[in-house]
Amino acid sequence: MIQGGSALKGTVTLSGAKNVALKLIIASLLCEGRVVLTNVPRIGDVEELLHLMIDLGVGINWKDKHELEIDPTTLKNHKVDLLYGSKTRVSFMLFAPLLHRFGRALIPNPGGCRIGERPIDRHIEMLRAFGAQVEYDSSTGYYSAKANSGLKTAKFRFSKPTHTGTELAIMLASLIEGQSTIENCAREPEIDDLIAFLAMAGVKIERNDDVISVWGVSKLKNNKEPFTISFDRNEAVTYASFALATKGDIEIIGASRETLSSFIEKVREAGAGVEEKDNSIRFFYQGPLKATEIVTDVSPGFMTDWQAPWAVLMTQAEGVSTIHERIFENRFSYAPELIKLGAKFEYFSPPVENREDFYHFNWKAENASPQAVRIYGKTKLHNGVLKVTDLRAGATLLIAASVASGESVVLGASIIDRGYETIEVKLRQMGANIKRV
Ligand code: EPZ
Repeated sequence: MIQGGSALKGTVTLSGAKNVALKLIIASLLCEGRVVLTNVPRIGDVEELLHLMIDLGVGINWKDKHELEIDPTTLKNHKVDLLYGSKTRVSFMLFAPLLHRFGRALIPNPGGCRIGERPIDRHIEMLRAFGAQVEYDSSTGYYSAKANSGLKTAKFRFSKPTHTGTELAIMLASLIEGQSTIENCAREPEIDDLIAFLAMAGVKIERNDDVISVWGVSKLKNNKEPFTISFDRNEAVTYASFALATKGDIEIIGASRETLSSFIEKVREAGAGVEEKDNSIRFFYQGPLKATEIVTDVSPGFMTDWQAPWAVLMTQAEGVSTIHERIFENRFSYAPELIKLGAKFEYFSPPVENREDFYHFNWKAENASPQAVRIYGKTKLHNGVLKVTDLRAGATLLIAASVASGESVVLGASIIDRGYETIEVKLRQMGANIKRV
């Protein structure tokens, strides 16, 4: 339940990055001994992945609220149970540790429909390039991978960049002795945490622009020190957008300029204030917001995960803003919900030279839907009953409800909890009038 109208003020501390924690939990299964991770966010996606780990026989022990110890030595199962595998999008990344440990892996189609192949075609192509035999059985919805004659080093180029695909390739190559080269890699900073984690375990990995070289080893060294997970930049963007949309002023502890540069640029362009400090960034409202044009891109561009909170902000800016989504097809599930509150959106298809190249998803003419929206601001938002569909869009609805006049209900808060740790506690600390019922 959210009562609109209160500006966010004060400070908030970020949690560890969801999209680092998930991968390091999986990468720890490549290790010989116990691994300790700190600054692990207590969020739904992490809890779901840990249930899956326990089902595989892995030892899991929370040493402290955000400190997790993983014991990979008791891993005994090469088959991911459908119950757990279909709940976490990253379960397919278990191909790397399971193939190395057992020479085979059975993993359900990541949360997709049971007939079509969910888009992990680039990951499968990469696994095959490293010597794995991978088949998909649409009657069971399972992928099966084998490495009968063992895995071999490879020089592989992704057809289009893929964040988790790049990470899976790095994990796989880390335990194949010799040099592998991966081209057209993604550049999200979360990948750098995985590289640092594996480097600590004795794997030499070098990134040179979009080419990553991995000198694999026969086995990883035990990490003496706990590994600290970087802060979540997607969480930072959510709170910054929240503050600006409610005409507030907040300081975000843990926000770093390096990982938010393209967001900071747009905030300034919209006429809001940004003050960078040593280990925090202050975002503050300083007068009417200006409309902006956004085209999402891979890192270091404006992230696809940021466009939903940004859209709400642009309903409060003067003029017509546009958001053109390049990475995921039709990632505007929040739009119909905001329209319920009085926002004015218009879908459109911007002219694009070569759609197959321009869009990062596998663009197909037959099911093309508009990949851009015009947002007409400034619109007064009124309260409503909102339904959360996906994680980032969910947080966006909280912002909209806080901007709207009157009391709103947001249904499906558990989806938001998948990626945000105690979001209502953090927001209440900054003055939001929000309670979980
Ligand atoms: C990661 O997703 C993140 N998820 C996403 O965050 C993030 O939005 C995205 O990267 C972009 O940075 C995690 O790290 C767990 P991609 P990922 O592979 O790796 C298509 C969040 O809410 N594609 O770079 O799945 C794909 O469908 C999530 O935290 C194929 O078609 O993204 C997408 O349209 C949302 N075939 C595009 O490419 C493939 O084999 C980019 O996907 C692989 C990808």
